[in-house]
Amino acid sequence: MSKKNETIQRPIPLQPGESASVVSPIYPSVVYASETPDMLDDQYEGRIQGYTYAREGHPNATALAKQIDLLEQADGGIITGSGMAAITAAIMGSLSSGDHLVGGDQLYGRSLRLMKSDLPRFGIEVSLTDMTNIAKVRDAIKPNTKLILIELVSNPTLRVADISGIATLCQEKDIKLLVDNTFTTPMAFKPMSAGADIVVNSVTKLLAGHSDVTLGYVVAKHETINKSIYDFAVTTGLTPSPYECWLAERGLMTFALRFESSQATAKILAQYLTMNKNVDRVLYPTLPDHPDAAFVKQSLSVNGCNLVSFELKNKTREAANRFVKQLEGIAFAPTLGDVGTTLSHPASSSHRGLSENERLALGITEGFFRVSVGLEDPDTLKRKFEAALKSIT
Ligand SMILES: Cc1ncc(COP(=O)(O)O)c(C=O)c1O
Repeated sequence: MSKKNETIQRPIPLQPGESASVVSPIYPSVVYASETPDMLDDQYEGRIQGYTYAREGHPNATALAKQIDLLEQADGGIITGSGMAAITAAIMGSLSSGDHLVGGDQLYGRSLRLMKSDLPRFGIEVSLTDMTNIAKVRDAIKPNTKLILIELVSNPTLRVADISGIATLCQEKDIKLLVDNTFTTPMAFKPMSAGADIVVNSVTKLLAGHSDVTLGYVVAKHETINKSIYDFAVTTGLTPSPYECWLAERGLMTFALRFESSQATAKILAQYLTMNKNVDRVLYPTLPDHPDAAFVKQSLSVNGCNLVSFELKNKTREAANRFVKQLEGIAFAPTLGDVGTTLSHPASSSHRGLSENERLALGITEGFFRVSVGLEDPDTLKRKFEAALKSIT
């Protein structure tokens, strides 16, 4: 046959040989070919395993989900295109119009916005309350309450929820408990063992760890809820790209080491900041004066977290600007969980949508900062903070 008449053939069967790749391959294919309509029936009806269309699932999402399932001690987790996609799928996949949701009043800003501005438009009622106070949580419950959403450690004041009280209340009232485990991560806290029915993580943060992918993870203990969350995510296109799943799987390989190191350094930094004369107060879960020390002991006794919040003595915007400028080599960026330490200023970022009085009620002044500790040497980090803090005397 003349070369001219040859055409492309798709796909060319690959012959990788007898040896196996040690790294997950990337599967960018959007579609998967089946041999016959009978085989498709078998796939859709669960008699055989196989992929059909990437929005519904692909091997890189499965590989990543299985890795996180192991960490969360769960089965059948779903990868989504972001942490917010996971939270949205968890809520919309398990609630209907007319249901009521109780959420923590110090959740991640976009979760709060979803609950305040979006869910009510779809007929889902929302109440927000203080998750460190079980009496307040009980008061917020209504006959139509179906779900409670918490983050064990709140943002940015690092208050710790009464997880055992909330889990008991959920059982008593037949309410499902949804835990956003992003701050704590499955290294510090296992929500399923603590009574959660649904767990979400922003994989973007510590799990992937390098600020180069945006992904989420959601899993429900009950198969029917898990299926409903999966169907919502697939129908609304909340599902992820193979490339990002592949990159996140690679990041996840070092997650345990990164977390161990950064939370140990966070403890050191927190202790150091308590001794600096230009710092008014320091918030870190395992510091002895933490307002929720009893809950910390119950749920976070071994590990703390990699976040430290603190307030400058000088609470002016001018001092905040000066401090950030002087903090050399630390990215001033509203994120967390990167390999490098990052600094955020809630008054001008995550909490800028609140009025000054609302911020002050949470203790967020212009002098309030949150640090996400990375992998730097602790002494170097302390020196950098010391130099920047000196500049505001
Ligand atoms: C606690 C928490 N949950 C969820 C999210 C949302 O994650 P993503 O940015 O991956 O959508 C964030 C983002 O900062 C977060 O801090």
